[in-house]
Amino acid sequence: MPPERTYDLVLFGATGFTGSLTAEYLARHAPPELRWALAGRNPDKLAAVRSRLAVIDSALAELPLLTADVTDSASLLTVAEHARVVASTVGPYTHHGEPLVAACAAAGTDYLDITGEPEFVDLMYVRHHETAVRTGARLVHTCGFDSIPYDLGVWFTLKQLPADAPISVDGFVRAGGRFSGGTYRSVLTAFSRTGEASRAAAARRAVEPRPEGRRARAVSGRTARSPELGMWVVPLPTIDPQVVRRSAAARPEYGPDFRYRHFAAVRRLPTLLAGAAGIAAVTGLVKLPPTRRWLFGRVSPGQGPSPEQRARSWFQLQFLAESGGQQVRTEVAGGDPGYDETAKMLAESALCLALDDLPPTNGQVTPVTAMGDALLDRLQRAGITFRMR
Ligand SMILES: NC(=O)c1ccc[n+]([C@@H]2O[C@H](COP(=O)([O-])OP(=O)(O)OC[C@H]3O[C@@H](n4cnc5c(N)ncnc54)[C@H](OP(=O)(O)O)[C@@H]3O)[C@@H](O)[C@H]2O)c1
Repeated sequence: MPPERTYDLVLFGATGFTGSLTAEYLARHAPPELRWALAGRNPDKLAAVRSRLAVIDSALAELPLLTADVTDSASLLTVAEHARVVASTVGPYTHHGEPLVAACAAAGTDYLDITGEPEFVDLMYVRHHETAVRTGARLVHTCGFDSIPYDLGVWFTLKQLPADAPISVDGFVRAGGRFSGGTYRSVLTAFSRTGEASRAAAARRAVEPRPEGRRARAVSGRTARSPELGMWVVPLPTIDPQVVRRSAAARPEYGPDFRYRHFAAVRRLPTLLAGAAGIAAVTGLVKLPPTRRWLFGRVSPGQGPSPEQRARSWFQLQFLAESGGQQVRTEVAGGDPGYDETAKMLAESALCLALDDLPPTNGQVTPVTAMGDALLDRLQRAGITFRMR
C-alpha cells in the first residue's frame, strides 16, 4: 500500500446509527498514532458526531471530516485515493454500496462494510473483484454480525479438530435484540429482490473458480428437534453459510472436504412457527407496491434501539463439529449483536486491516481469508467470547 496516503482509516457513513457507534468505538480504542477521518454526505452532521467524539477524547476535536456522497463518484474516488482503508456503514448496500466499492477497487484501497445482502456481495465480486486483484485492494464485506461471528466461530472451531480428514460443522444461532431503521430497510430490500439475488448468485457461479482437489460446501439442513441442544433448529438461509463456504474454499486449514450447515435455534415450537409465518408474510407483502411503501414507511433511517434496549440484547452461537471421529462443541457469544457488537466487529476489522501483519490477499475476500487469527485475537481481547463447551 503506498505510504503517502493521508489517512490510515476513513469511516464512511459516520453520521448513521451504526456509523456513529463505530466512530465512538474507534474514539475509545484506536491507537493514538492512527491517522483517521470521518466521511459522510452532510458536513453539519459530521461535525456533530465529531463533537461527541471530542467528549470521549479531546484530541478528536480536530479529527478531519471529509464530505462525500454516493451519488458523486469523484468525491468517493478522492476519499479512496487518500486512505489506506475505508470502512462503510452506508446502506442498504444494494442501493448505495457499489460506487465506493468501485472507487476502492480502482484506487487499490482496502474496503470493509457490514452488509448482509447476498445480491450486493455477489455483484461486487462479478464487477470489481478482478480490478481489486490487479490493484491489490482487499474488499472485505460482511464485517458485522453478518458474518464475523460465524466466519470466525468456524475458524476457531477448526483449531480444535484434525484438518487431514473431512470436517462437518453445524452452526446454531440464538439472539435477542431490535433492528435499526437502516437494518430494517436493508432486510426489506433483500426480501423484495429474491429474483435479482438468484441471478447475481448465478452470475458469480459462472465466473468464480472452485478450489482444486478439495471440496468446500454449505448445504441446507432440516427443521428438527436437536437432541444435543435440546432445542428446535431451522435452516437459516442468510449470507453467513456462503461466507463460511468461501473461507473454506480459500484456506487449506478447512481440510480436503468441508461441509457447513447453518440453523436458527429456538426453545419452543410456537416461536419457530411464528417466526416462519412472519418471514413468509413480509416476503409476500414487500413484493406488492402499496404494502411495500407501507412497510418501508414504518421505520426511518438513522433511528435504532436505545442504549437500554441494546444493553438487554445478546447473541449466542454454538457449533457442533466432527472430523476423523472426533467431535467438538464451541460457543461464540456477546452483547447487542446488531449495533454495539457490530460496531466493535467493524472497527476491529478495520484496525486489523490497517495495522496488523496479515497474509497477502487481494480482491474480494472473506473476513477469515483476509484476517484469520489476527482478527480472532482482536475480537477476543475486545470481549467477544470464543470458547469450547
Ligand atoms: N450485518 C449486520 O449485522 C449489520 C448491523 C447493523 C447495520 N447493518 C447495515 O448497515 C447499514 C446501515 O445501517 P444503519 O442502521 O446504521 O443505517 P442509518 O442509520 O440509516 O445510516 C445510513 C448512513 O448512510 C448515509 N447515507 C445515505 N445515503 C447516502 C448518500 N447518498 N451518500 C453518503 N451517505 C449516505 C447516511 O447519511 P445521513 O446521516 O447524511 O443520512 C447515514 O450515515 C444498513 O445497510 C444495515 O443493514 C448491518
